[in-house]
Amino acid sequence: MAAVDHHRAPLVEALRRYRDRGFTPFSTPGHKLGTGLDPELLELYGPTAFAVDIPLGGGVDDTHFRGATLRAAEDLGAAAWGADRAFYLLNGSSAGNHAYLLATLRPGDEVIVGRDLHKSLLVALMLVGARPIYVSPRLHPDHNVGVGVDPAAVATALDAHPAAKLVALVSPSYCGVPTDLAAIAAIAHDRNVPLYVDEAWGPHFAFHPTLPPSAMACGADGSVVSTHKVLASITQAAVLNVQGERVEPARVATTVGMVQTTSPSVTILASIDACRRQMALHGKELLDRTIALAEDARRRLQALPGIAVLDAGALGVDAYDLTKLVIDVHGLGITGFDAEHALRERFRVGPEMSDLVGVVCLVTVGDTATSIDRLVGAFATLSREAGRSRGSVPAPGAGAHLRSSGTVLAPGQQALSPREAFFAVTRTVPLGSAAGEVAAELVIPYPPGIPVLAPGEVITGEKVDYLRHGAALGMYLSGPADPQLATIRVVAEVLGGV
Ligand SMILES: Cc1ncc(COP(=O)(O)O)c(C=O)c1O
Repeated sequence: MAAVDHHRAPLVEALRRYRDRGFTPFSTPGHKLGTGLDPELLELYGPTAFAVDIPLGGGVDDTHFRGATLRAAEDLGAAAWGADRAFYLLNGSSAGNHAYLLATLRPGDEVIVGRDLHKSLLVALMLVGARPIYVSPRLHPDHNVGVGVDPAAVATALDAHPAAKLVALVSPSYCGVPTDLAAIAAIAHDRNVPLYVDEAWGPHFAFHPTLPPSAMACGADGSVVSTHKVLASITQAAVLNVQGERVEPARVATTVGMVQTTSPSVTILASIDACRRQMALHGKELLDRTIALAEDARRRLQALPGIAVLDAGALGVDAYDLTKLVIDVHGLGITGFDAEHALRERFRVGPEMSDLVGVVCLVTVGDTATSIDRLVGAFATLSREAGRSRGSVPAPGAGAHLRSSGTVLAPGQQALSPREAFFAVTRTVPLGSAAGEVAAELVIPYPPGIPVLAPGEVITGEKVDYLRHGAALGMYLSGPADPQLATIRVVAEVLGGV
């Protein structure tokens, strides 16, 4: 590998070189450097963006199929994220989850998986035809938030399933709580089982000492980070990192190529390149400022009647993503959905997500004291109004059972593999009479994208009640054929050979 010089940005430099040399393209994309575009779109995006929307082969690299510039950029990425090899992704962490599992598993393999898995990890299991052995994250008894998977639970699962080929966990959680990955890596590696981490929400961990340690630093064999989620890169940008002897990088390169487009957007890839340069050179100071802004917001929000904000102390955990604001509003007598609606419509403030209990807001390197003031000001108004209309604001506490990351995610009985259930002959039944049936489809409150029902699981009455209640209160459900979820598809007959 060439010497690491984080001042370089090979893809960004190649785009500039292409533009400066004044090419006339007779290749994709058809907008031809923006000249063929719809005028309104051109005005909205600005012409410069299209002047560098060029192909990778025959644009960034002079010849097709060599990929040398992308590889040079990825090698800098591997150095920045502490990996042996990095793969830049155009379809988010979703593509990384699909590629890693396709590279490392075979149909029928058992995998120890955290039940708070994202849809994309479940889909990866379905693509491979692997059999999940679910372990649940521990739940905080008051806040009903996952506080990481217990290493002992992973050890027990591995002992009970000695043929398991992989441990695959999500860390940090959507609420910013990491799992003790170093302990789990040691447990898995003792049995020569690799550890893969869906670290979609932790691309910044590698760049600041007071954030939780990154999966690579903890010894994971593979991890995926969504740079587009909390760092400054374009939507869909993500990085799949691998290290060590238990994973074959060439095989991962093959599967990354299988799950991604053959016409990669260099605009997205170059944004990862620039993001890596920014973080490798200035990450510590940028994140110092980001964390200080988030802590300021947390303190001020916490002081508002009816509002509570999670932190490491409240959850009793050692490590926490300090840039996340998980804001509980049910003490205002409203759901998180109501709060999000008010924030957007009245204050033009856009949170990351809402659930029945509250909203989640991200503080990133793009925030300023002004944006934080605006966020806190909007919540201050909501808190004041709630106090006026109700006489007093109850203390937050009761109601946390409604949080979507809670007990409803307990693993159900796994009657079939997700793939067997997905490809089974199905029948449609009213949701109210679905308890006891085997789910044939995914039902995923989105965000956060964690399946309440996964194909192959026996549907419980508790999950049915939760989904009906949530749907009535405005929860958006992704996955089911009936978006209102009046009905659900269940397994009628299992077909062989899937
Ligand atoms: C834990 C987790 N993994 C993976 C993903 C998918 O990431 P992307 O949107 O970058 O594909 C998400 C998205 O929310 C997520 O929360």
